[in-house]
Amino acid sequence: METILLSSSEPDLAKAASFISGGEIVGIPTETVYGLGADATDPEAVRKVFAAKGRPADNPLIVHLADFSQAKDYTTSIPELAKVLAERFCPGPLTMVLPKNDRIPMVTSGGLDTVGIRVPSHPVMHRIIELSGTVIAAPSANTSGYPSPTAASHVMRDMNGKIAAVVDGGESKFGVESTVISFDDDHTARILRPGCVTREMLLEVCRDVVIDKAILSEVAAGEKVSSPGMKYKHYSPKAHIIMVEASAEDFRSFADEHCSDGTYFLLYTGDEEDFPYKYMTYGRTSEEQAHYLFSRLRELDEAGAERVYVRAPSSEGVGLAVYNRLIRAAGFEVIRI
Ligand code: TXA
Ligand code: MG
Repeated sequence: METILLSSSEPDLAKAASFISGGEIVGIPTETVYGLGADATDPEAVRKVFAAKGRPADNPLIVHLADFSQAKDYTTSIPELAKVLAERFCPGPLTMVLPKNDRIPMVTSGGLDTVGIRVPSHPVMHRIIELSGTVIAAPSANTSGYPSPTAASHVMRDMNGKIAAVVDGGESKFGVESTVISFDDDHTARILRPGCVTREMLLEVCRDVVIDKAILSEVAAGEKVSSPGMKYKHYSPKAHIIMVEASAEDFRSFADEHCSDGTYFLLYTGDEEDFPYKYMTYGRTSEEQAHYLFSRLRELDEAGAERVYVRAPSSEGVGLAVYNRLIRAAGFEVIRI
């Protein structure tokens, strides 16, 4: 199959939408990362998404709506807390796990009786949903296990020849995937995957917000998880990633002892002055690090890095999302200095 590159002009968005309504799959920009979109109500189309990504069948897809008011058409009930959260955070990078109804096929929900609902704020994704006349199931548009795509070129690299089209909507604004939450009770949200809607932000609305323990620690084989995605290897480039928790100064001394031919260091922006070994930087603040992390992981592969020591990010605020992605990319290999 030839994969065509579309622009974000109205005629091209109409073309993308008609691929979706016709049962084909398309790479689509969102404000978090690029998604691999299919008609969420069409089991055959959704199967093509799992095949293109090489994704395990029990890992559910998020369903993207043009407006939260559509959620009632795909769920059996919506908690009051979800409605209040939607008013505050939709459209935006928040996914809420709700009880699904029969309009969402089991393939889409990975066999679960719940569905992750998200209303993306990216105008291109929004317009494609509207024009398609359906709702769009979209996982991140990377090959399963590889870092998520934050540019159309990343999607092309992973999906060329496997999907109908990629829509170029520029670089993703946030750079990490949405915050995924479920509800423990009427007042308590549980974060299943941290993102740019932080615990602190959720606490403006929820009485309590629990951070699921699988976010920062490894899930044992066979252990029961709140979200299937927690079980799988994620975000890993070909290079061997090792996270190093250290001050800028200690990281520099660590580098002196660990430099070798295929080794790169991933530094905070601002720490690179006179750094004598091969390096890249990934931003200064947590927001910048979220924005750059996945593209840097891809660039490190392109540069031929075999081993990468990363100066660990903060785990405060948006930093928790960056930390969560990196510790998985590192297969939980962390050196503390
Ligand atoms: O920002 C995002 O969320 C991006 C863009 C494209 O919207 N999408 C995305 O989808 O990251 P994906 O499939 O790569 O990650 C979805 C995560 C997975 O870890 C999955 O296990 C979890 O959300 N998830 C989806 N539906 C769920 C459900 N019903 N219950 C528990 N976890 C769910
Ligand atoms: Mg993903």
